[in-house]
Amino acid sequence: MGIFKGKKTEETKVKTIGVLTSGGDAPGMNAAVRAVVRTAVHAGCKVIGIRRGYSGLLEEDFTEMTTRSVADIIQRGGTILYTARCAEMMRPEGPEKAAYICRKNGIEALVVIGGDGSYRGAYEISKHGINVVAIPGTIDLDVASSDYTIGFDTALNTAMEAIDRVRDTSASHERCSIIEVMGRKAGHIALWCGIANGAEEILVPERYDYEEQAIIDRIAERKKLGKKLHIIINAEGVGDSNGMAKRIEAATGLETRATIIGYIQRGGSPTCRDRVFASAMGARAVEPIWTSPRRLR
Ligand code: F6P
Repeated sequence: MGIFKGKKTEETKVKTIGVLTSGGDAPGMNAAVRAVVRTAVHAGCKVIGIRRGYSGLLEEDFTEMTTRSVADIIQRGGTILYTARCAEMMRPEGPEKAAYICRKNGIEALVVIGGDGSYRGAYEISKHGINVVAIPGTIDLDVASSDYTIGFDTALNTAMEAIDRVRDTSASHERCSIIEVMGRKAGHIALWCGIANGAEEILVPERYDYEEQAIIDRIAERKKLGKKLHIIINAEGVGDSNGMAKRIEAATGLETRATIIGYIQRGGSPTCRDRVFASAMGARAVEPIWTSPRRLR
């Protein structure tokens, strides 16, 4: 979790907090929102739900949340608060305006649920005097300060099952399959699925050296030994799966297909692990806001 301290103010408890989800949605975001709202309301805070992430904050798209507004969402994928990528927050005036809007609406602290870009936004807003607690929510597992990000486990399991299915048809047709998974510039989903799905090759942006000839040689070698099924898990950060499939087919004579799994990895009901982590992080995020004075310690 990220705690970004705003300006030092007088020693009274925070009464109103805002909560938003930002960037790519991730299964478990709803569970985190639920935990934030219920913990905060229980502590006597008023909770403002901010729709569509930072875009909604800048447009003052607010809704007051109660324990009832987060009923029946722990099991749901996506985010009931909606989400967006906000270009305005990348400009210097964006975070300043966001802090001004928080003050104008009596929002004394913010809880931001999102990934890398959302964390940067949270930090920038805090520079303008608003305390922000950030909860890591992204399927990519690419938030530097956290070992875990909400949504990663669900996305992994969804991708793993999809790859098993591609494997079945690939085996029947004696093909080579390149399966591309999400992850932006990070190869975590590819690495985990590559191991869990027993892939012959795993390409991750952190390690891949673009020596495609070496991959072709290994496939040709395995083919000679009688191997009929070849699974390559390719990370989005490496990309070019279709091009790669054409080149491998041309070089090895082996029918090769590319499958880009895409957005199904971001949807679906969160796994137990994602629900539990999201609930724990959501509750924990509120603690430093209400248990301490306005200045986060
Ligand atoms: O951050 C989650 C993620 O799904 C990445 O894996 C991917 O690169 C990106 O979001 C896609 O973003 P968008 O929804 O804007 O296409």
